[in-house]
Amino acid sequence: MTIASLLAALWADYTAITPQASRIHALLSARGERLDNDHVALRTYDAPGLGVEALARPFEALGWRAEGEYRFDDKHLRARYWRHPDAALPKIFISELERAALPPQAQALIDGLVAQVPSGFAARPDLPWAGRPWRLPHTTYRALLEHSEYAAWVAAFGLRVNHFTVDVGALRTFDSLEALCAFLVDAGFALNESGGRIKGTPADRLEQASTLAEPVPVRFDDGEHPVPSCYYEFARRYPLPSGELFHGFIPASANRIFESTDVAR
Ligand code: NI
Repeated sequence: MTIASLLAALWADYTAITPQASRIHALLSARGERLDNDHVALRTYDAPGLGVEALARPFEALGWRAEGEYRFDDKHLRARYWRHPDAALPKIFISELERAALPPQAQALIDGLVAQVPSGFAARPDLPWAGRPWRLPHTTYRALLEHSEYAAWVAAFGLRVNHFTVDVGALRTFDSLEALCAFLVDAGFALNESGGRIKGTPADRLEQASTLAEPVPVRFDDGEHPVPSCYYEFARRYPLPSGELFHGFIPASANRIFESTDVAR
């Protein structure tokens, strides 16, 4: 697999269940923008063969290198990101749910999904976007939702891209993240307003915003039900005192961005 084919596979996986991303990409392209990606994010469980390090393998094989690690204790998540020596390539942000932090009944539901993973699945070269290797009753999805939005999302979609992120600093027709957000709202897209529309400040060296994931039909054992799929994120990075752009993440901001796939209740 080449870097180009890997990134094309990730984008195809993402847009297949995220029609709003294709629409936004087309809208910005029509303004003459060429979109660069700041990062691509993936979600998983901390199960053997399916965890963060397993999903990172195809990226490491193509030159991405592990960098900072983060914890989101209130959501029971651990995350790490990878950077490529070619600065034009997106960072890869992979998070996993720490099953042991959930109540026993939720752990048992997830363990029941993981037990269905076929042998050899974890060795697939396309593991990060290999999809859902388990059957899922809608009752299990709804029960997980009571304990963890993240657990329920991974149960419904399996291993897939969670979001792509536009590098706002590389845009030529928007001078701020605020201007881009206003454009998107005018165009009819709903943004994540949790903790404010823009997460982070220039002093944090990173400003982020995102759309809200739209529900798509997902196949369950008892038929199709709508589930919020993926969102599109927008990130503007600022230079450190050294002059180099900040490449890390701000946990308080990321914590809010995770909520872009929450089920409206
Ligand atoms: Ni992100």
